[in-house]
Amino acid sequence: MNVKMLIVEDNQGDADYIKEILENQSEINIHIHLVSRLQHAIDFLEKENADIILLDLGLPDSRGINTLISLKEFAVNIPIIVLTGNDDQKLGLQSISNGAQDYLVKNQISIFTLIRVVKYTIERQQNIEKLIMSQSNMKLLLDNSSDAIYIIDREYRYITINQAGLRMIGKRMKEVVNKKVTDVFKGIEKTEFFMAYKRVMENRNPEIYVGQFIIDNAKNWYEVRIDPSSEGILCFARNINARKNEEQEMAGTMENLKRSIRTTIDVLTKAVELKDPYTAGHQKRVAMIAREIAIELGLDSERTEGIFLAGSIHDIGKISIPAEILSKPTKLDKNEMMMVKLHTSCGCDLLKEVESDWHLCEIALQHHERINGSGYPNGITGDKMLLESKIIAVADVVEAMSSHRPYRTSLGIEAALHEINEQKGILYDEQVVDACNQVFAKNRIKL
Ligand SMILES: [Fe+2]
Repeated sequence: MNVKMLIVEDNQGDADYIKEILENQSEINIHIHLVSRLQHAIDFLEKENADIILLDLGLPDSRGINTLISLKEFAVNIPIIVLTGNDDQKLGLQSISNGAQDYLVKNQISIFTLIRVVKYTIERQQNIEKLIMSQSNMKLLLDNSSDAIYIIDREYRYITINQAGLRMIGKRMKEVVNKKVTDVFKGIEKTEFFMAYKRVMENRNPEIYVGQFIIDNAKNWYEVRIDPSSEGILCFARNINARKNEEQEMAGTMENLKRSIRTTIDVLTKAVELKDPYTAGHQKRVAMIAREIAIELGLDSERTEGIFLAGSIHDIGKISIPAEILSKPTKLDKNEMMMVKLHTSCGCDLLKEVESDWHLCEIALQHHERINGSGYPNGITGDKMLLESKIIAVADVVEAMSSHRPYRTSLGIEAALHEINEQKGILYDEQVVDACNQVFAKNRIKL
């Protein structure tokens, strides 16, 4: 520690003695400047700075407490230790109340005490400076923040709020600080936002509240982070209108995209209907069964819609198969069968251009795959199949068996359900079969 000390002492012997002991101790590296009059001390301070002052109150040009008061004017931020020969308790108290750090009486203190007091004073001064620095940095940070930052105590009073916060709510500091939240914002206690304040106050778990607030007749979106603090809660509020607008635009774009996908699928199913009314009806019913299975499995609405659309279009590849094969009343030969099997990859080829997150192409490709790998076109196993494909596979079989085919009459829903339960865990996914059983047990669909 390097310290610059000013000693104001008119007794040359005392001054030399103090200078010597302070310079010879090893704890602090002290550079000392000696003056013997108040005016000399003032002259020195006008030109140079000091970290600490050791002051004798009885000087040739000033006596008593006035010495301290006069010097203090020129040493506002410099700690002053009074070191005097006058053992006067009243003067001691006066010195402290006029800003002296300590009052030491010569001949009553040891060298060690003097060093300790000097060291302590220096440390305290450094801590004060650090605190001032951190407080001013904090104030700078708060005032330059574009987020509103405010603290509310446990009685729901604003303790502090930064400039951005005042701008956000259109109020002045005196209208907010020390005022109750419920007085600043009438009716706030009935809002979800206030409930969030209360939860954080009570549970001490941070929360993020997003909501629309009407301030000065303007409706804006805000995101407020509410953190527990030692006083109550510390809040950071941010206007998120721009983000919300982007989200809405994005949602609009997504909705447009979905609408165009639905239209594409509609056009495709109509094309199938013109060429092959049987397949068109089959796809519609598969879509409905698959949707119910998805709901039974607890899938979200977005995924369920994708499954419904995939069901509506899963056999689209059949438009590449000659009509006479599709409607042939007798059993297909090997070549015809091969041709029919191509409808999965052909369907995927058609659908791969339709950009969506619904995996329409993969589902069309996989809907004749079986979980034991015995399906086509690639013979993949259940772990490689999409859940969507497993659902369409089950719905496809149930619909196909329970409806009339060109070469046979309906086998009935019981036979269809019997088939999928027989092959549950072998050809068909167990959970999907269970969900399908529930759909028919609950009469959610009628074929
Ligand atoms: Fe198919």
